[in-house]
Amino acid sequence: MKTYRFGVLGAGNMGMAIAEGAVRAGLMTRDQVLLFNRSEDKRAANRARGYAVTGDYTEVYTACATVLLAVKPQNFDEILPVLGACACEEKPLVVSIAAGVTFAKIEQALGADTPVIRVMPNTPLMLGEGATELVKNAAATDAQLAELCALFDTMGVTVVFDREDLLNEVIPYAGSAPAYIYAFADAMVKSAYQHGIASEDALKLFCQTMIGSAKMLLEGGKTPEELIRAVCSPGGTTIEAMRVLEARGLADMLAQANDKCIARAYELGK
Ligand SMILES: NC(=O)c1ccc[n+]([C@@H]2O[C@H](COP(=O)([O-])OP(=O)(O)OC[C@H]3O[C@@H](n4cnc5c(N)ncnc54)[C@H](OP(=O)(O)O)[C@@H]3O)[C@@H](O)[C@H]2O)c1
Repeated sequence: MKTYRFGVLGAGNMGMAIAEGAVRAGLMTRDQVLLFNRSEDKRAANRARGYAVTGDYTEVYTACATVLLAVKPQNFDEILPVLGACACEEKPLVVSIAAGVTFAKIEQALGADTPVIRVMPNTPLMLGEGATELVKNAAATDAQLAELCALFDTMGVTVVFDREDLLNEVIPYAGSAPAYIYAFADAMVKSAYQHGIASEDALKLFCQTMIGSAKMLLEGGKTPEELIRAVCSPGGTTIEAMRVLEARGLADMLAQANDKCIARAYELGK
């Protein structure tokens, strides 16, 4: 029997967002969650909020039923061998959110009998609007996967894959996509400003338009192409804009950006 239900090895932005989300959803209480931070300042702040805290990450591995690995991919080479050397009677469920870090790499250090679920969340998860993909290794059970999906479902939507490589291939479309969207919003707001519209007004209008358009896509029963056609009346304004986007190669540009993003995920996994 483990002392804690959930441990976060690396209680940074994502680790904290997931722990807080689980607590907010009523799936666990703060004292059932053990957080690892390197600095005493952060530990003291988290202790004051009711979490259990530690400065020894091996304790997270040995004392928690589920261990969330929420450090940067670059830290895995240092951390995994230390965890692998821990005497641990009952292996925890290991959940990794690190881009590109493979089952093979984790299993090599912790043993192939370790249940591991790789998860790729995105930052809107912090507001309960995340888009998260999950894939399990052979040692993890369907019940463990279902339980973890239920946790991430409280913070947005989830999609389960049955192939590990899809977790890299999907990164541009959810994990990294918020940055694309912010870049799009930034360009639109700057353009609006050039046309005399206050940035605050432009951002408000554009963000609502993104929300509304996303709802049309999800709930309107029409494909993106059908919706584009519906807005592009012949001889109207939108069709003029869309011709420029097409002529300047928006789709090609995005495809190139996505290829680079995916290639980097494979590189990080080496
Ligand atoms: N941000 C995103 O959009 C996003 C999306 C999907 C997945 N992810 C993945 O989430 C993971 C965490 O990202 P983040 O943005 O939450 O990073 P972050 O805020 O920088 O948090 C990193 C955590 O790692 C700890 N840490 C750093 N170096 C360490 C070391 N040498 N040994 C032990 N612990 C160490 C830090 O400890 P201290 O708290 O003591 O500083 C911190 O708690 C990454 O693997 C990333 O790929 C991020």
